[in-house]
Amino acid sequence: MAKSDHNENRGQSNLPPIDRRNFFRYSAAIVGGLVLGSKTLASARKTAPRTDALNVALLGTGAQGQVLLNSCLKIDGIRITAVCDIWAAYNQRRVSRLLQKYHHEHRVYEDYREMLAEERDLDAVIIATPDFWHAEQTVASLEAGLAVYCEKEMSNTLAGARKMVQAARRTGRLLQIGHQRRSNPRYIHCYEKLIHDAGIFGRFTTVNGQWNRSVQPDLGWPKKAAIDSAVLKKYGYADMHQFRNWRWFKGMGGGPVVDLGSHQIDIYNWFLEARPVSVIAVGGTDYYDPQTHEWYDNVQALYEYSTNQGTVRAFYQVITTNRNGGYFETFMGDMGTLYISEAAGRCSIYREDQAPLWDQWVNKGYLQTPVETAAPTGALLDVRETLAPPAYSLPFEMNDPYHKPHLENFFDAIRGNAALNCTAEIGYETAVTVLKANQAVAEERKVLFRSTDFKI
Ligand SMILES: NC(=O)c1ccc[n+]([C@@H]2O[C@H](COP(=O)([O-])OP(=O)(O)OC[C@H]3O[C@@H](n4cnc5c(N)ncnc54)[C@H](O)[C@@H]3O)[C@@H](O)[C@H]2O)c1
Repeated sequence: MAKSDHNENRGQSNLPPIDRRNFFRYSAAIVGGLVLGSKTLASARKTAPRTDALNVALLGTGAQGQVLLNSCLKIDGIRITAVCDIWAAYNQRRVSRLLQKYHHEHRVYEDYREMLAEERDLDAVIIATPDFWHAEQTVASLEAGLAVYCEKEMSNTLAGARKMVQAARRTGRLLQIGHQRRSNPRYIHCYEKLIHDAGIFGRFTTVNGQWNRSVQPDLGWPKKAAIDSAVLKKYGYADMHQFRNWRWFKGMGGGPVVDLGSHQIDIYNWFLEARPVSVIAVGGTDYYDPQTHEWYDNVQALYEYSTNQGTVRAFYQVITTNRNGGYFETFMGDMGTLYISEAAGRCSIYREDQAPLWDQWVNKGYLQTPVETAAPTGALLDVRETLAPPAYSLPFEMNDPYHKPHLENFFDAIRGNAALNCTAEIGYETAVTVLKANQAVAEERKVLFRSTDFKI
């Protein structure tokens, strides 16, 4: 679709036109006098909740941009009115065609700066470009008055992540980071009901998590859709191989422990209600070609937390050569265990024998009673083993696409009907936590976290 001249009045006055976006920007400024704190802005919005459709831009239409778009198409009141991607001949075209099919009238762009300058009716932008672009694009979008949903990893550098938090505070605009488990009803239920309210796991002592993945070949591209080398260079890519496989390159992504681990280590911080005090980690590029896989293809990290209840040791592993066990997080306390994964159907809860019975929590609807399984007959048990305790389960399953609740939370927050589930500050704490694992691998030493590391 061609870019429209819908903004005919631009340039005729020194004042920006009072469109919907500017109306909110200026009304917010008037309410606050000068610069509004996010709390004030949130309460100002709360008094006038918005129910009308939101105009949203999608910046980055690759694998994840398309996943997010598919969720957006299932959410009422969302109009995708602009799409921006430097891969015009492929991802951008593909998404544009999909939007046409769903009757979302939109304009397309290659350069996000042009999009921000031209699009005057946007409410929000969803950013799903490679990590090293997040900080610049997020800051510019916030400064253009937009609410931003930015994919994890928030940034590949702490300096970039810090700028994003500062821009969100300065502008008073909403910034949601794409750690989507934060809005997943199963994770919320486990945190709010089982951990916080019932405390059924007792004192957490140990956490164990992993993302084990099979060998994957490098990503290719249809040769006739290759991007011109001048365009690639303009956007920081040496060639098509690096453009497609940016995750493996230093200065572009953070490697598997950041890419995958940030989702899960974010849950460590959340469920333990703490931030780590140290991390020891080992890893390396042991399997793939280090020329084209600059980041470690495997990392084993051990975080130490000092929680209100005592010390917790939290192990995390990411490997890219074998998918055994897939991905999950396990929280072990002296009264029970929570085994949870974003993968649907993977959540089991175990009671330690000495823990008080959990009937009251079953009756309250927090848990579902285990299905009784008969003890094996005839089999001789090794005396050193005991039978696995019966597994309780959650009373519901999440059937939505994984990212839909997080996007809904973002749109609800724009309308003044919700608080963000993963603010810039939360994203920053997670970025500090995971980026230090790479540092610990590189420096081959225990890296300490100071409380000031998490402050901006
Ligand atoms: N939350 C999740 O579960 C999840 C899952 C996968 C990826 N992600 C995140 O989503 C982001 C994108 O990952 P992906 O797998 O879709 O990568 P991808 O390489 O498939 O897609 C990136 C897209 O961005 C475009 N692009 C690159 N630089 C650009 C620029 N400067 N301006 C505009 N467009 C640009 C590319 O052309 C491509 O279409 C990453 O930050 C990644 O960490 C999150």
